[in-house]
Amino acid sequence: MPIVIRQVHPLFAAEIEGVDVSVPLDADTIRLIHDAFDRYAVVYFRRQSLTDAQQIEFAAQFGRPERYALSYRDNHTLRLERPEMVDISNLDAKTGEIQDRRARHRLLLLSSRLWHHDSTYRMPVGALSMLHAHKIPPVGGETEFADMRAAYEGLPESMKARIAGLVAEHSFVLSAQKLGFADFAPEEQKVLVKFLNPVVRTHGRTGRKALYLGWHAIDIQGMPVPESRVLMADLLELSTQREFVYRHEWQVGDLVVWDNRSVAHRGRDYDESYVRDMRRVTTEDEETEVQSPVRDWLASQAAGGAAGVAG
Ligand code: OGA
Ligand code: MN
Repeated sequence: MPIVIRQVHPLFAAEIEGVDVSVPLDADTIRLIHDAFDRYAVVYFRRQSLTDAQQIEFAAQFGRPERYALSYRDNHTLRLERPEMVDISNLDAKTGEIQDRRARHRLLLLSSRLWHHDSTYRMPVGALSMLHAHKIPPVGGETEFADMRAAYEGLPESMKARIAGLVAEHSFVLSAQKLGFADFAPEEQKVLVKFLNPVVRTHGRTGRKALYLGWHAIDIQGMPVPESRVLMADLLELSTQREFVYRHEWQVGDLVVWDNRSVAHRGRDYDESYVRDMRRVTTEDEETEVQSPVRDWLASQAAGGAAGVAG
């Protein structure tokens, strides 16, 4: 079957047909698909049946899969065995039933309803996220993506000049605190430390610039905190106008791949009395060290001896 790429939004996002993602791909196909990830930033494959191991194998053809941020907690049961698998479900890890309203996993996952990029708070940052739908609710639970390249390019020149060279601090623990969530173990706090990223990031493969903030960005360095938060709110509003947004309506078997360096995303509300079982693998961005000012920052923190980086 020939491979067909069909763009589904005026600016970005495409469906790829004619690929079975459960088997190893040849080099030409990998190149073709990787080019599509670069160009469209959101790409989906429909009717895919994947085990967790196959999903990890697929991802590994495009980068090194990262370890799930919530797998670092001691004495903690994970629903999915492999530490690369990110559990985006509403299921309880122990019983396999729909989780309690107050479950820690649920409360932490609620932040994915807010615009964000995956793994901006760790080293290396997230590159490609690949989310596979096992079970979906009858209505709701869509995922929205905003093209942060087009949004950046559409900013007034005065705003581009204002944000050039700015650096934001990102933190998983502090973004959770914004929602009133504070249940982190010491071993988690150690790996989910603060991380610095440029506010405008250049994609290592395409050279295209994109806004890079989202929910885990806490504030911008070198400016009064209220000023930085207002600026971030303004940028978020500008960059998530409807013209920049593709909304994915899930079908069971969809594998949706997005490039966290190019798009922000958020999940939408759904009736949680229905099972939503989605599983994600995210690859690491190879360019993080080159682009993040974190090295200098770590050096400056060394005197205090407080800093570490996520594995
Ligand atoms: C994610 C995420 C949103 C959703 O998997 O990283 O943010 O719709 N998902 O579940
Ligand atoms: Mn996410």
